[in-house]
Amino acid sequence: DQQREDRKDEHVRLALAASRSVSSHFDDIVFVHRSLPHLAVKDVCLQVNLFGRALACPLYINAMTGGSQKTGSINEALATIASATGMAMAVGSQHAGLRKEELASTYRVVRKANPKGVIFANVGADVSADTALKVIDMIEADALQIHVNVPQELVMPEGERDFSEWLQHIEDMVKRMNVPVIVKEVGFGMSKETLHTLMSLGVQYVDISGRGGTNFIGIENRRRAQKEYSYISTWGQTTAIALLEAQAYRTRLTYFASGGVRHPLDMTKCLALGAKAVGIASPVLRVLQEQGVEQAVEVMLQWQEQLKVLWTMLGAKNSEELLTCPIVVMNEVKEWCDVRQIDVTELAQR
Ligand code: FNR
Repeated sequence: DQQREDRKDEHVRLALAASRSVSSHFDDIVFVHRSLPHLAVKDVCLQVNLFGRALACPLYINAMTGGSQKTGSINEALATIASATGMAMAVGSQHAGLRKEELASTYRVVRKANPKGVIFANVGADVSADTALKVIDMIEADALQIHVNVPQELVMPEGERDFSEWLQHIEDMVKRMNVPVIVKEVGFGMSKETLHTLMSLGVQYVDISGRGGTNFIGIENRRRAQKEYSYISTWGQTTAIALLEAQAYRTRLTYFASGGVRHPLDMTKCLALGAKAVGIASPVLRVLQEQGVEQAVEVMLQWQEQLKVLWTMLGAKNSEELLTCPIVVMNEVKEWCDVRQIDVTELAQR
């Protein structure tokens, strides 16, 4: 148990120490400039409805932490930021809170700090539906994220080695939960094939969480003495590519985007590619740790102001209208789409 608590602290430390060395591919996605947008900044509305609740902005703090005293304080601070800015928030994997009652408070603190907020519970795909019901209950969650993190488990010396039950677990959880279930990657991105499989299990919500930001192969490599797996540190698909992979399912699946979102322009690109909402993890953790809660609130409110400016330039008064803004896909991402037979001409001419 102590090892697990240390790991939670280490993940936070190493995520912050990491430099961003892998491309997020967002720069290969370009909006077509519009000289006459026919709109005023004051007319832009960022609000979206999510699971029957109104959110000030389609942005959420993604799953990170809890499970040790230190990370409990981080969770409390993140919840305060979410509450002050009208953002949704996910807690980190709650397994630790189930195993040890005193650690449950490091997750519950999120509901305490933000009683009316939209909050997501988080577990791995290795748990039973009964366990999942308990983590939802622990924080009175509005939805459940099930994280799928195979590369991370395999690179961790103490990680899982058998994934043969995961599909069954996911299917059971989807059937038995009393709240919406979001199947979530942790920074390796999802493909058409993965999305197809998830849909066949009855999954309606996914977070395609792609490469380009936090890199768990990198983090786990740095936790071990011999860095045996550094050669797969660019494994997975970027968020930009995963969103293009998801285009085929745009009307049948609700997808969220996260992974390597650096600023309001990246976020706007995700929304224009059909994401319902966009998650950020390490960027908000970094401002929080370096500058404190108040400054982090300030930065998130600035994002919201800047989103209104960007959407005005694009002539979109809400996130739905972003779906009609033409986008040009270039360079490596275009090559990927050509080979995978993903039609990007429709995006360029809509
Ligand atoms: C994470 N992430 C994560 N995801 C998850 O589903 N359960 C978890 O417990 C964690 N733990 C965690 C800890 C830390 C310190 C970080 C930075 C991240 C992954 C996270 O939700 C997200 O998918 C990725 O971090 C990609 O987003 P960013 O960081 O590039 O914005």
